[in-house]
Amino acid sequence: MAFRLPCHDKMQRRLLGMGILSIIILIYWIYWSQSLELNNMLFVLKLNNTQFIRDLIIQPSNAACRSKPYIIIIVTSYVGHVELRSAHRRAIPKELLDSMNVTRIFLLAKIPPHEKYINQNAIEDESRAFGDILQGSFIEDYRNLTFKHLMGLQWASTNCSEAFYILKVDDDTVFNLERTYKLLKSLRLKGDFFMGYMLNNTKPIRKHLNKWYVTWEEYPRNDYPPYLSGWYYITTPNAARRVTNEAIYHPYFWIDDLLITGLLTEALNIKLVQVPKGFWLEYYELLECCLRDMIKEKIMCDATVGPNGGRNNLIVEFNDALNLCWSTKNCSARTKEKDLSKVCVAYRARSIFSDGKPEIKYLGTGVKMTAKSLN
Ligand SMILES: *[C@@H]1O[C@H](CO)[C@@H](O)[C@H](O)[C@H]1NC(C)=O
Ligand SMILES: *[C@@H]1O[C@H](CO)[C@@H](O)[C@H](O)[C@H]1NC(C)=O
Ligand SMILES: *[C@@H]1O[C@H](CO)[C@@H](O)[C@H](O)[C@H]1NC(C)=O
Ligand SMILES: *[C@@H]1O[C@H](CO)[C@@H](O)[C@H](O)[C@H]1NC(C)=O
Ligand SMILES: *[C@@H]1O[C@H](CO)[C@@H](O)[C@H](O)[C@H]1NC(C)=O
Ligand SMILES: *[C@@H]1O[C@H](CO)[C@@H](O)[C@H](O)[C@H]1NC(C)=O
Repeated sequence: MAFRLPCHDKMQRRLLGMGILSIIILIYWIYWSQSLELNNMLFVLKLNNTQFIRDLIIQPSNAACRSKPYIIIIVTSYVGHVELRSAHRRAIPKELLDSMNVTRIFLLAKIPPHEKYINQNAIEDESRAFGDILQGSFIEDYRNLTFKHLMGLQWASTNCSEAFYILKVDDDTVFNLERTYKLLKSLRLKGDFFMGYMLNNTKPIRKHLNKWYVTWEEYPRNDYPPYLSGWYYITTPNAARRVTNEAIYHPYFWIDDLLITGLLTEALNIKLVQVPKGFWLEYYELLECCLRDMIKEKIMCDATVGPNGGRNNLIVEFNDALNLCWSTKNCSARTKEKDLSKVCVAYRARSIFSDGKPEIKYLGTGVKMTAKSLN
């Protein structure tokens, strides 16, 4: 007995040590999860200030959704991007929209104090001329993009609730409406969904110096759920309504497409759908290449969506070239040998879609960021 006692003693001490350790871990865990909850509550209160998505300075004209549209297009647009909005109006003119039962509105926020090139009177004039402006009462800022995005979904789902689909794009996205229309007509989807370019397996960036740094308080998980790129996606008014209602109970998060098409759709169990292969060009350079071939070599460009790389007029040029191909019936299909990934090799290696970076369209200063083509 006397011999075994020290051993017994040792084991007791070890057990005690392990016990204390687990209690410390438990206490730490409880503390951590509670402070998380507290944080979440603070953020909930922040977002519950629903005035930000409901208080409007300018609304589109009453005509916008009077006749039950097939698609309502909501275009997030920095208030100072007058030329970009003009490019959208030229690329997809009112007559074309009307002939397809499509309505388009631009989502703007309040002019930030440092913005020198635009004033509210000009925005009012633009609204009177085109009737397609929805302006929120929050200030333009990339950290306020979530408000803008939710405002658009909220407006479209209440004022255009009869529409079949909502198409959300950014003002620096190049896209073709006829192909979008064709895709939607061919869909056999039932119920609510979000369809776009799916981003799988992305992670928050935890490096302080990184532009896209996300703190643990902002996002307390290691991975992002699958979500859609905010450049271009399609949903239904009902899904949009559910998402905007759910947002009130969710912590505010400034990466808008991630919050809306990822976290909220996950919470609501709304399915995400991947757009068909070849529908989407990830890089501005690929789109330029595809367009150049269409103009110079009469090779049809099969893509529907891409980034404008900071070229305001690209959406006009792309749609003009497509229309010429269609009207002259003079463009040939791209052959396997001339596959874009072979012809436009220089840009193949880059990948912005796999590293979890958010897409920030502009800084608060009104300086346009081309994050879409950033490496
Ligand atoms: C949000 O605010 C509204 C009106 O102020 C209130 O009725 C509602 O209960 C609030 N929701 C939450 C989750 O706090
Ligand atoms: C949009 O809907 C809201 C709420 O129903 C209404 O107050 C507003 O007048 C509508 N706006 C337009 C332009 O129809
Ligand atoms: C647009 O709507 C009108 C009336 O609601 C309908 O007659 C027409 O077929 C629709 N056009 C398209 C292209 O959906
Ligand atoms: C929007 O961004 C500005 C500038 O960062 C900030 O002051 C403001 O509180 C944000 N929110 C709203 C609703 O304006
Ligand atoms: C993401 O995952 C879904 C299935 O969950 C798949 O259908 C889709 O093609 C994936 N997207 C990409 C870009 O890998
Ligand atoms: C079609 O393309 C050919 C050669 O690429 C050209 O000679 C011809 O004029 C074009 N036709 C039209 C209608 O543009």
